[in-house]
Amino acid sequence: MAGATSPTTALEVTRGGGFGFVGAAFSTPEKLAEDLTFVRDSIPDLGNQPLPIGIGFIGWLLDAKEDVSKQFIDVVLENDVRAVWLAFGDDVYRWIEYVRSSPANARASHKPLIFVQVTSVEEALLAAKEWKADVIVAQGTEAGGHGGATTPSTFTLVSEILAALPGDGAPPVLAAGGMATGSQVAAYLTLGAAGAVLGTRFLLTTECPYTDAQKAALLAAKSGSTVRTMALDYARGTYGWPERLNGRGIRNKIVDEIEAGVPHEIVQEKYKKGTEANDADYMVVWCGQGVSLMKEIKPVKDVMAELHTDIVRQLQKTQGLLDD
Ligand SMILES: Cc1cc2nc3c(=O)[nH]c(=O)nc-3n(C[C@H](O)[C@H](O)[C@H](O)COP(=O)(O)O)c2cc1C
Repeated sequence: MAGATSPTTALEVTRGGGFGFVGAAFSTPEKLAEDLTFVRDSIPDLGNQPLPIGIGFIGWLLDAKEDVSKQFIDVVLENDVRAVWLAFGDDVYRWIEYVRSSPANARASHKPLIFVQVTSVEEALLAAKEWKADVIVAQGTEAGGHGGATTPSTFTLVSEILAALPGDGAPPVLAAGGMATGSQVAAYLTLGAAGAVLGTRFLLTTECPYTDAQKAALLAAKSGSTVRTMALDYARGTYGWPERLNGRGIRNKIVDEIEAGVPHEIVQEKYKKGTEANDADYMVVWCGQGVSLMKEIKPVKDVMAELHTDIVRQLQKTQGLLDD
């Protein structure tokens, strides 16, 4: 989650039994190198194992600055990171190829796994069959942050992708979008997903770099408080997203005013002032539909423990359906 994760959040997710990613899209190669040194120094007994976190990039942003993007990926390769996550571009394969062919890859002691987040069956087939991605992340419409403007629910998309990619040799498919509880994760595991990706759940953690005001807006959110829209990007002046995408966040006056035709520059000014003043009407708070089930800010460690207990309990309960 670009702008909403830190090396500490990713590390704590991994320590808690998951696999943490840092969204690096708005970072710099220098800052990313510092972050990766911090992670390595935080795991003194790592030896020559790969760094047990992943780094995420956004395709169209990589396309926009080719030289810097290559530096970013080389930093990942030089630091022996376990996985790279790519999403949201018109030419994601170009960056997969760069990960695989960079001279820094030849020098790396471990080759990173390549996760590709997709928002349609067609993209999943491309990523699995043509690009040979190691892991497919199927992101449904409930997901927070950016995603497909016409993508179906996570349940439908995961089912469609599993049907289109049957059999041995297909990469694992992870479900992403709308999950707040372990019971929901268990539902996707019983559906056939190899795992689940949760983003929004980690916004309400003590380690998340969201501001207190953004976290308060998340705590106040109810069912129906979020919307898929371009308005939040227009307020921030981010215009480069491929057309088939938009973003899910809390609906507030930014969205109302853009929808009512208020010129972007006026809303941008209000967004700037609103963010400085912690005014919930004019902040941008990306989050998924699962936010309505989240009631507390907790350390990542506690979220991981709670999810784990809930997943196991729910799977055991499901197993009980088969008992006489
Ligand atoms: C604040 C925020 C930032 C995100 N940034 C990225 C990103 O940089 N790259 C990406 O591929 N997905 C990004 N996502 C989407 C996540 O990868 C994931 O699909 C989503 O969080 C899963 O749905 P959930 O938020 O309902 O758990 C972001 C999501 C959020 C909430």
